Amino acid sequence: MASKNIAIVVGSKGRGSNMANLVYAERHNQLQGHIRMVVGAKVEAPAMLLAKELGTDLWVGSLKDGASVALLLDQLRAKEIELICLAGYMMLFPPEILRSYSGRVINIHPALLPKFGGKGMYGSFVHESVIAAKETESGCTIHYVSEVYDEGAIILQERCPVFLEDTPESLAARVLECEHRAYPIAVNMVIDEIS
Ligand code: GRF
Repeated sequence: MASKNIAIVVGSKGRGSNMANLVYAERHNQLQGHIRMVVGAKVEAPAMLLAKELGTDLWVGSLKDGASVALLLDQLRAKEIELICLAGYMMLFPPEILRSYSGRVINIHPALLPKFGGKGMYGSFVHESVIAAKETESGCTIHYVSEVYDEGAIILQERCPVFLEDTPESLAARVLECEHRAYPIAVNMVIDEIS
């Protein structure tokens, strides 16, 4: 079975549940990849604390400054990383890394793209918008990352219903279940594709 070295990039505000879910998937032999590092800007961010608790290698640094991005690229190469999975990273991903990892950077979004994506569409804003638009279904999308927010080709979507009585919080919880089911499957699909 093909196996690829993976880096997961988390955000400073997220819980890290998708990162942890991928780590568990690997530990239960459900991932065709090896998570070699978790990348984040702040060591005290909840997702980084969780990654440390899980015993994964950490790389801490800002992806906003060029020197730090160059250091990260060196580290990705040193660890022979072949696939980068964003999980809660909210900003545009550095183009220098995208160029070196063309077709090998993927992201998870908590809605059914192409709707409800783009700049500012994250966290509860997404679920509030889905409810306001009276959508009857939502879900998650795993897609390739490009230089534009949420516009890369779609790899996999998982759907769930939206109920009339839903609040952004209840919908977020249902979508998160979709995310946790779908992300490991999408990672395996991409690994098959690039192997
Ligand atoms: C998820 O909803 C994901 O779709 C989005 O950011 C959130 C991260 O959640 N990109 P967590 O930190 O993985 O729990």
